[in-house]
Amino acid sequence: MNTWLKALPKAELHLHIEGTLEPEQMFELAARNGVTLPYASVDEVRAAYEFSDLQSFLDLYYQGMTVLHTEQDFFELAMAYFARAHDDGVVHVELSFDPQPHLARGVALGVPFEGLERAMREAERRYDISSALIMSFVRDRPADEALDVLEQAQPWHHQLAAIGLDSAEVGNPPEKFTAVFERARELGIPRLAHAGEEGPAGYISGALDALDVCRIDHGVRCLEDAALVERLRSKRMPLTVCPLSNVYLRVVERLEDHPLPMLLEQGLKVTLNSDDPAYFGGGMLNNFIACHAAFGWEQAIFRQLARHALEEAFMDDERRSRLL
Ligand code: ADE
Ligand code: ZN
Repeated sequence: MNTWLKALPKAELHLHIEGTLEPEQMFELAARNGVTLPYASVDEVRAAYEFSDLQSFLDLYYQGMTVLHTEQDFFELAMAYFARAHDDGVVHVELSFDPQPHLARGVALGVPFEGLERAMREAERRYDISSALIMSFVRDRPADEALDVLEQAQPWHHQLAAIGLDSAEVGNPPEKFTAVFERARELGIPRLAHAGEEGPAGYISGALDALDVCRIDHGVRCLEDAALVERLRSKRMPLTVCPLSNVYLRVVERLEDHPLPMLLEQGLKVTLNSDDPAYFGGGMLNNFIACHAAFGWEQAIFRQLARHALEEAFMDDERRSRLL
């Protein structure tokens, strides 16, 4: 089954590129850029990956990304991920990045845009992996700042497949970002948001109503509201579910307790994704293999999940029809 899962053409729709930073590369970039890390060794970094909730992860995630300084750093980060994704049988990656923490430490907006764009073109040449770029706003920072970043990013809007919304969910409801998302709508940029990861089902309804999103990242808590489930099902709204992430961040205690089978039973348009693979036990293939071990799904279920992702990917239709 593992060989079959590896060969299945997979599209990854929910991936934070800063969350692909493996400890070895963290040390290498820290040395190159003169950044002092609060760890003595790679093993010490890995030992620190013990999370009690989303915030305890975010603290390490924001700390880790401080080693990224130059276009070349972002290029190498993304190339290292594309190589691993290719090994996992991934044919399309939608990578999101968080411009605000980089800007806050003096890394200009063009640095991630240019470095990631170069890696995306190189991945296409080297691995025949297509990709799309998502700029995500950090929801625990002010909405005015997000709006300002969206305007500042104007020279790179043509590179964006979508904008997203991530970081600490509880206490930062989607309605806080209505004006930013309205501006993106005016600009013709598609919109996505994390919702219902740690936050309640009401945040998923809020993302649909206030932000007019075309995809919900996570969304696992929708099951708490039957009317919302019906709404998501009738709209065929994709949910980018991240099974291992949900275990590592204690959204569920064990994968066997994950609501994935129930989401599928409810007829929802679920996809499988890795979220932050360097922090959460591996990439796409590990997520697929873990689901097979936990739920015993047969090939038809995995085919359906992979089909959902290909149908919803920001990808040209000719490539999509070849892959479907
Ligand atoms: N940023 C990176 N990973 C995230 C996650 N799982 N939830 C919210 N924000 C994130
Ligand atoms: Zn995420």
